[in-house]
Amino acid sequence: MSVSIAIFASPGELAVDAAHRISRVLHEAVLERGSAVIALSGGTTPKAIYELLATPAFRGRLEWNKVHMFFGDERCVPPDHRESNYRMVREALLERASIQTLNIHRIHAELPPSEAAKRYEKEVATYFDGGHPRFDLVMLGMGEDGHTASLFPGTAVLNENRRMVAETFVPQLNTSRITLTFPAINHSRTVLCLVTGKGKAPVLREVLEERPGKYPVERVAPGQGDLLWYLDKEAASQLTKERI
Ligand code: 6PG
Repeated sequence: MSVSIAIFASPGELAVDAAHRISRVLHEAVLERGSAVIALSGGTTPKAIYELLATPAFRGRLEWNKVHMFFGDERCVPPDHRESNYRMVREALLERASIQTLNIHRIHAELPPSEAAKRYEKEVATYFDGGHPRFDLVMLGMGEDGHTASLFPGTAVLNENRRMVAETFVPQLNTSRITLTFPAINHSRTVLCLVTGKGKAPVLREVLEERPGKYPVERVAPGQGDLLWYLDKEAASQLTKERI
C-alpha cells in the first residue's frame, strides 16, 4: 500500500484537484481495462467535486458510458429524500452531465435494511463476476467521530470479514445504514479520503500521527492499492509532523 497526504488551502482547491485526480484514475482504468468502476461517497466536499466533474471542462475528458458508479454507503431513505446520497449525486452530477442510468448502481435503501444490503451485495457481486470486488476508486470521508462510509465506532459491522456489503444499525444516530465493508474497501486500487473542516482536526491528527486504533477510518488500508488523503488546511491544522 502506498499512502500520500495532500493539503490544500481551501475546500474549493481540494475539490478541483480531486476532480482532476478522479477523472485521471477513471480514464486510466478505461484505457487499461476497458471500463472503470468507482464507489461514490456522500457529504459536502464530494458534492462540490461532482459538480465540477459535470462541467464541460471535465465532462469531455471521460467516456462516462464506460464508467460504472456504485455507492460507498447510503442512508435508509427513499432515493428522492433530502438525506439520500444517491439524490445528491443525481442532482450534482448525473443529471447535469446526462450520464446514462444503466451504469448507476444505487443502493435501494427504500427497502428494509437487510433486503437493501443483500440486493446491493448481489449487484456488486454480479458486476465483479462473483470475485472479490476491486473498485478502481473508492471515495471516502471522515466524520468527527472517526467514522468512514457508514462504518461507525463501536458497531459490529467493523468486524465484518465475509460480506462486502452490510446493513448496520448506528445507535449514535438511532438509524440504519447500508455500507461497503472493510474487505470491499481495502481491496480497491485507490482510496481517496477527503477530509475538510476544523472540527475534524483533532481526530485527524490522532489518526495520522498516533494511530490509537480506536477510529474506524484507521482501518482503511488498501493492501494492493493507494491511499490518498486529501485534506484542507483546517482539517490539517493540528498535524505536528512534517511527514507522516
Ligand atoms: C456520508 C458518509 C460519511 C461522510 C462523512 C464525512 O455522509 O454519506 O457516510 O462517511 O463521508 O460523514 O462527511 P462530510 O465530508 O460531509 O463531513
